[in-house]
Amino acid sequence: MDPILYSKYHHLQERDVNDFLLACASLTNWCNLTKKIVMDVGCGSGNTSCAWFLSLFLQVKRLIAIDKSEGMINLAKILNPHPKIEYMVADIADESSLECWEGTINKVISTWCFQFIADKRKAFRNVYNLLKPGGEAAILFEVDSPYHQCYRHIIESPKWSLNFKNKTLEYPHIYSENSSDVYYKQLLQEMGFTIVLCKKKQKTFAFPSDEDCIGFLLSVFSLHKKVPDECMDEFRSDLFQSFLLYGGRETSGRPVAYYGLMSILIRKPNITT
Ligand SMILES: C[S@@+](CC[C@H](N)C(=O)[O-])C[C@H]1O[C@@H](n2cnc3c(N)ncnc32)[C@H](O)[C@@H]1O
Repeated sequence: MDPILYSKYHHLQERDVNDFLLACASLTNWCNLTKKIVMDVGCGSGNTSCAWFLSLFLQVKRLIAIDKSEGMINLAKILNPHPKIEYMVADIADESSLECWEGTINKVISTWCFQFIADKRKAFRNVYNLLKPGGEAAILFEVDSPYHQCYRHIIESPKWSLNFKNKTLEYPHIYSENSSDVYYKQLLQEMGFTIVLCKKKQKTFAFPSDEDCIGFLLSVFSLHKKVPDECMDEFRSDLFQSFLLYGGRETSGRPVAYYGLMSILIRKPNITT
């Protein structure tokens, strides 16, 4: 991710975060959060999930916003400071970075983050351990998104591949080998979660302009910083052409992305005596 670009070009993500979190809040009655501690996992620059949460639930006791990228956390502290938000560097797939919050969180929210996690089973297990009994997690992530192939297309193209030599490990992998809701339902049930919602949906997003679409593409692809400044215009143009192969244009001409989203709302059961 490119923290600065993401903080500007996140309209696609913002739309889906709003829809998803509103649906979760109404499904499980997030009316009174006065004494509740909420954790935002993969908060990014704090513009979407954190900002959304506080605009609707200002009475929440505390919002712990974690991200594994120090760059994102530093930017979030500058762009979106708030007395109720505590920004911290932590990795949801690494339990050693989460120990201090174990069993203390009432709600976990995580949007547009889990697709970057290879070992989702481990990440879900850590979410379970973070939650108090009766706590809930609302998790939204991307699955099966054809437009992502445009990055691979560019990385492997004879024209640009030299710029990314030995850098492919930094490529923003989308790990969606298991992309069906049936798979996630079973996995989460086996872990002990109660499933409130687990559904995959196909989505489309039309960008207001070609410029916005290019900004979005670069924001997810921080490797673009390896391209020399004098070649940047050409690179942007090639990346966009590659996107159009996997996305396309609406009849009105606006560039459009097609992608899949997994919406998950789960609860850790209360302890029974
Ligand atoms: C696309 S941004 C999403 C930001 C925000 N939640 C939103 O909805 O716009 C994904 C963020 O997840 C973070 N991330 C990826 N893997 C992570 C992990 N294992 N633990 C914590 N954060 C992670 C990335 O650093 C990045 O800032």
